[in-house]
Amino acid sequence: VSESFELADIDWEGLGFGLIPTDYMYVMKCDGSGNFTNGKLQQFGNIELSPSAGVLNYGQGLFEGLKAYRKHDGNILLFRPEENALRMRNGAERMCMPSPSIEQFVEAVKDTVLANKRWIPPAGKGSLYIRPLLLGTGAVLGLAPAPEYTFLIYVSPVGNYFKEGVAPIHLIVEHELHRATPGGTGGVKTIGNYAAVLKAQTAAKVRGYSDVLYLDCVEKKYLEEVSSCNIFIVKDNVVSTPAIKGTILPGITRKSIIEVALNEGFQVEERQVAVDELLDADEVFCTGTAVVVSPVGSVTYRGKRVTYVEDGFGAVAQRLYSALTRLQMGLSEDEMNWTV
Ligand code: COI
Repeated sequence: VSESFELADIDWEGLGFGLIPTDYMYVMKCDGSGNFTNGKLQQFGNIELSPSAGVLNYGQGLFEGLKAYRKHDGNILLFRPEENALRMRNGAERMCMPSPSIEQFVEAVKDTVLANKRWIPPAGKGSLYIRPLLLGTGAVLGLAPAPEYTFLIYVSPVGNYFKEGVAPIHLIVEHELHRATPGGTGGVKTIGNYAAVLKAQTAAKVRGYSDVLYLDCVEKKYLEEVSSCNIFIVKDNVVSTPAIKGTILPGITRKSIIEVALNEGFQVEERQVAVDELLDADEVFCTGTAVVVSPVGSVTYRGKRVTYVEDGFGAVAQRLYSALTRLQMGLSEDEMNWTV
């Protein structure tokens, strides 16, 4: 789409990561047959649910997150939307829910973005965050999968996720509360995973930290992830991140950064990363759709604070961030065919 159109009348300079309601949302329902049909755009607004809806009573719900960027020439880019569709399908299988097909998901994302295109920030000022939801909206009382499901997409213009902006964030390692357990749901994007991290996150923020870094719940000595993003460490130009093994969210930015790092000639290791490795890492950074690539300024573990960068990115994180975001924003050749 390269036609010109009016931009919404908001302050594009001051975007953070909060909901700015837009014009339309996409809603598609599915009955007991497992088929999603008749998806429609409708005005963005509240939805009506039975107090007995599966999602409200038993947390049967998933969400996704992806972004649309406006290019200088007016075209709009999505980044690997079929990966989100696939992850929602995997999560739906774990949560006993039917899910839209990959094609339905991607078409619905495109329709929603185009219907709200005046809310996509000007090039360089942020992005349109796209939030697909899959919810058990049918009424249940006894514990069972809901009899009806709703797939919904809403969007909001966003800027930086952390209040630090692009400045480094400060993490504290949590060694009592855990985000996920083996055999649990940590590897899918179910809503309950995010409610479960609020207690430690809130306590960390009160103490001046940006967020919490979780450890594995068995040995309590390996890194898992941050509340809302994956974690990477760099030592002697080797880029390492915890391997995906059921308790870690398979981030699309994580996967993309690994591929970008390999293309840039770095050695990349997906493995168990011990918390002690934070002590002599050269750089630490986080990845996620919302956070993109965020440099970590310090990590505190059992009262000991290790610092990495004062401000800005470390050299490796900077290189990977630039390579990834140039692709996402359409500023470099998309040899991987990642953008739509
Ligand atoms: C994302 O990065 O898109 C997420 O889903 C994390 C969320 C907590 C903002």
